[in-house]
Amino acid sequence: MSSETAQLWGGRFATGPAPALAQLSRSVHFDWRLVPYDIAASRAHARVLHHAGVLEAGELSQLLSSLEELGKACETGEFTPTPTDEDVHTALERGLLERLGPLGGKLRAGRSRNDQIATELRLYLRDNARGAATRLVELCEALVGQSQRHVDVPAPGMTHLQHAQPVLFSHHLLAHVQAFLRDLARLQDWDVRAACCPLGAGALAGSSLPLNPEQVAAELGFDGACENSIDAVSDRDFAAEFLFITALIGVHLSRLGEEIVLWTSHEFGWITLDDAYATGSSIMPQKKNPDIAELARGKAGRLIGSLMSLLVTLKGLPLAYDRDLQEDKEPVFDAVDTMALVLPAMAGMVDTMTVNAGVLRAAAPAGYALATEVAEWLVRAGVPFRQAHEITGALVARCVERGLQLHELSDAELCDVSELLTPEVREVLTVSGAIAARTTVGSTGAEPVAAQLATVRKRLTAYQEWGTGAVPL
Ligand code: ARG
Repeated sequence: MSSETAQLWGGRFATGPAPALAQLSRSVHFDWRLVPYDIAASRAHARVLHHAGVLEAGELSQLLSSLEELGKACETGEFTPTPTDEDVHTALERGLLERLGPLGGKLRAGRSRNDQIATELRLYLRDNARGAATRLVELCEALVGQSQRHVDVPAPGMTHLQHAQPVLFSHHLLAHVQAFLRDLARLQDWDVRAACCPLGAGALAGSSLPLNPEQVAAELGFDGACENSIDAVSDRDFAAEFLFITALIGVHLSRLGEEIVLWTSHEFGWITLDDAYATGSSIMPQKKNPDIAELARGKAGRLIGSLMSLLVTLKGLPLAYDRDLQEDKEPVFDAVDTMALVLPAMAGMVDTMTVNAGVLRAAAPAGYALATEVAEWLVRAGVPFRQAHEITGALVARCVERGLQLHELSDAELCDVSELLTPEVREVLTVSGAIAARTTVGSTGAEPVAAQLATVRKRLTAYQEWGTGAVPL
């Protein structure tokens, strides 16, 4: 090994690496963010090396304090990677050698960068899953807040982006929260599978030294050690699954983003964004654009791309470790960064937007949205739904022809459409009546929506607590 660089291999090579190889091989410019996890894993490894009799008590304490000091030096920027450091592990071993001389080289016993990187990426993602959950809970709370403030505001409910049936706006906002709650559940469930520790697997076969992988696992906050050393260093399911969850969060954000884009348009006018969460145009002074919502919509492409990129990298890889696996990090780092950018912006935008209740209320019955009420009124009078549907369809056609709303037809015209349409049908032709009639679990009536708000709140509090319990480092 050359003394100026801390290259972790080289004994059998007659020459150093070609510059093109070194450049291609280098990952320290992106894996540097794993420093705290590398330090934590090294400290745990040092302790088991001591128990295994590889390190004297004095050596252990020197290593532990140097690792701590090195971690701090990285944090302050006093210690940084050099151009010849291949990856985070190489750079930190150099840091130890600079501080401790040959003792710094003892820590490498019984471990490999293969089990190190697999461990550190899990640690990083377990922490950041909790970070993403916390940000997602904040967005949900913003949606719940708007939902609570507009609990009695009716709005057009759409299918095919056409007016379908009136709903409470609150119910619609909570539909987005339900999707995010499933994402939160997915993160928590993912964490259970991600909670096994690869350290101790070495390059792939485990170690001949009397290490204690269970002790390392416990110290790093894992539930236990991986059961198979070959799987431990080659498995990246945990990264792919994490990317699936962030891709799906991206898809859910894009649906909300798209709706906000529509709702802020002149044509809808349902909501107005706070100035702090909207942007202007460089040429059109009147413009107020929903860029956050559009960027959230756009970032879904990037998040899905990250998932695809990792899946394709993993496809067909022979066991155990292959260098291709170095390509696992940039997509997950990008997904974490994207979550950290988009979620707070969306939360702030949702929290501060003004809901134009009057516009929503006026639009709620438009497009003959109460026609289903007529059909169900006929059903309650004993008419088979097939016939009720036909009669109501004819009623709508008559209204379209006459340019009238359903309740505006005269008694004679109602009767002309069908004798079954007595003037009493007008009683069901109100938005408030239509909404109030929907009392079953999950419906848009005031009671089920209030019940939904209460359970959603409770579940969010639980996820909030989970999100703050980070992996102990
Ligand atoms: N930088 C490498 C990675 O991210 C670390 C493991 C390298 N292992 C090896 N055998 N070259 O995967």
